[in-house]
This record gives sequence, C-alpha cells and structure tokens, in this order.
Amino acid sequence: TVGKSTNIKWQDCSVGQVDRQKLLNQKGCVIWITGLSGSGKSTVACALSQSFHQRGKLSYILDGDNVRHGLNRDLGFKAEDRAENIRRIGEVAKLFACAGVICIASLISPYRRDRDACRALLPDGDFIEVFMDVPLQVCEARDPKGLYKLARAGKIKGFTGIDDPYERPLNCEIVLEHKGGDGASPSEMAEKVVSYWRRRGT
Ligand code: PPS
Repeated sequence: TVGKSTNIKWQDCSVGQVDRQKLLNQKGCVIWITGLSGSGKSTVACALSQSFHQRGKLSYILDGDNVRHGLNRDLGFKAEDRAENIRRIGEVAKLFACAGVICIASLISPYRRDRDACRALLPDGDFIEVFMDVPLQVCEARDPKGLYKLARAGKIKGFTGIDDPYERPLNCEIVLEHKGGDGASPSEMAEKVVSYWRRRGT
C-alpha cells in the first residue's frame, strides 16, 4: 500500500551498539528533561552537556524548540502535534542511545502517556526522566521569551500551564526542585543528574 511502510525488513549490521560503546568507552542512554516553559530545561541540559564533555563523555542535546526548527517544523502545539513531536524526539533519542551517545532530550513533553511511550522504547534503566519542578508563578515571572505575557493576553492559545495542561511525572528518576531565593544553580542541578548517571554505571 502506498503511504504506509509495508514489506519492510529490519537490517542488522555486524557492528552493533556494544562495539560502538566500547569504542566510545561509555554507555548510550537518554536523559529526558521535562517541565514547563521557563523552568530551566535548556539551561540544565546545556550545563549537563558541558559536564559530560569535561569528563570526556559524548552527549548530544535534542531541544524541543530547536528540533521544531527542522525535523518537526510541520508540528504545532495541539495535543496530537505535541504527541507526534515527543514521539519523533523519543525515536531519535533512541537512535542516539543506540549510537552510544548520552542523549539529553529537553522538551516540555506535558503528557505522561507520551513520555512513558518514549521510556518504553529503551531497555530498563536507559531512560532517565528528570522533572524540573518549578512552580508556574516562578516560570511566569521569569518569562524569558515573553510568551507567558502573550498567553495571558490571549495572543497565544493553548500555552502550557496557562490554558493547556502539564502532567507532573509520578515516578521519575530525578526531581530538580526550585527552592526559591538562592536555590540550586543550573550547574548544581546538572551535577545531581551526573551523580545519578554515575551510580547507574557509565
Ligand atoms: S512540547 O509540548 O514538548 O511539544 O513542546 P516543545 O517542543 O518543548 O516546545 C516548547 C517551546 O515552544 C514554545 N511555544 C510553546 N510552548 C508551550 N505551549 C505553546 N502553546 C507554545 N507555543 C510556543 C516555547 O518557546 C517553548 O520553549 P521552552 O524552551 O519550553 O520555553
């Protein structure tokens, strides 16, 4: 049938994930950072990537905003578009992990079901979900891109946290809490993730 993938067969190669991991001296995995807009996902993702780089570990960031400039440029913010955005990023993250890379996915990913579907793509333990637990009021006060202001003014419809839902993770591996005032810095938050990653086995 035209339009659907039929008559396809999986192709294997003698160089596999284990061989690539040996070459890189690291294990591929996915670190999935979820949270509201303005919660600091991208900042922590970047601090995390810097920390891995300093340790001689290869990581790569898939940022929702950035991937929407290319691969996902055809998607908007309706629930089904977000689901497809997350599904594609989940599949790409899986490919990176299979390549032996520490893939840091940083996107709002507001629906539990979509995040769980990405988790299910990877072997147990290879999907580390990190929740940026920052209250809406704090994200809104930061408003780094001025989007909350536009959403409150009704100029953006379906904005996460304002008139679109965000489902907090129930069983994620790591919660990065906002403590107010001089709370943890992005690099301290990143170090919390790195120590989890080290305990799990690099
Ligand atoms: S999602 O929900 O996971 O598909 O979203 P994501 O791919 O992470 O994209 C979120 C960024 O898009 C901008 N933006 C919006 N966010 C939420 N709701 C609406 N309606 C919206 N419209 C545009 C916003 O800059 C988000 O970036 P971050 O980095 O999260 O602030």
